[in-house]
Amino acid sequence: MILIGFMGCGKTTIANELGRKLNKEVIDLDAVIPAIAGRTIPEIFADEGEAAFREYEYRALKETLQKDVIIATGGGVVTYDKSYDELKGLSGRPVFFLNAPFEDLYKRIQQDENRPLGNQDSEKVRELYNSRLDKYTSLASREVSTLQTVEKTAAEIIVYMD
Ligand code: S3P
Repeated sequence: MILIGFMGCGKTTIANELGRKLNKEVIDLDAVIPAIAGRTIPEIFADEGEAAFREYEYRALKETLQKDVIIATGGGVVTYDKSYDELKGLSGRPVFFLNAPFEDLYKRIQQDENRPLGNQDSEKVRELYNSRLDKYTSLASREVSTLQTVEKTAAEIIVYMD
C-alpha cells in the first residue's frame, strides 16, 4: 500500500498507524533519501537543488517498491515524471491519496522546519498544492480525508483495502 498527498496530510502518521494495525513494515521515503544521499533533505535542497532531490527520491521509490511494505511517500514525488510513471504503472497495489483543506495542511506544515518547499509564504505553498492536486487524484485508487482522528483515517483505509 502506498500513501500519497501533500505535505502535512499525515502520510507518515497514518502509515505508522496502519503498520501497527496490520502488523506490517512501514517505510518512509523521506527517511530512505538521506541514507542514499548521505545528507539531510534540507542539505540536499541547499547543496544540490530540487532536481537532484527528485532523482534521489525516485531511486528511493524504486528500491522501496520492491518490498511488500506500507510506503509513505514525500509530497512532491508526483511532480517528477519518472516517479509518477512508476506509481502509475503499479497494478494491484492500492494507492491512497490523503487530503485535508489547504488551510489545515498549511498549519501543520508550519510546525516543522525541515521542509524546504513548505517554509514559504502561504500563497506560494497554495500554488504548489493546486498544481499537484490532479496528479494525486489521477494516481489514487481512493482519496481519504485526514480531517478526522488518526484511528478513523486508518480504519477507513483498511475497509477500502479489499
Ligand atoms: C516535499 C515533501 C516532503 C519532502 C521534501 C519535499 C514536497 O515530504 O519529501 O521536503 O515537495 O512536497 P512530506 O510530504 O513527507 O513532508
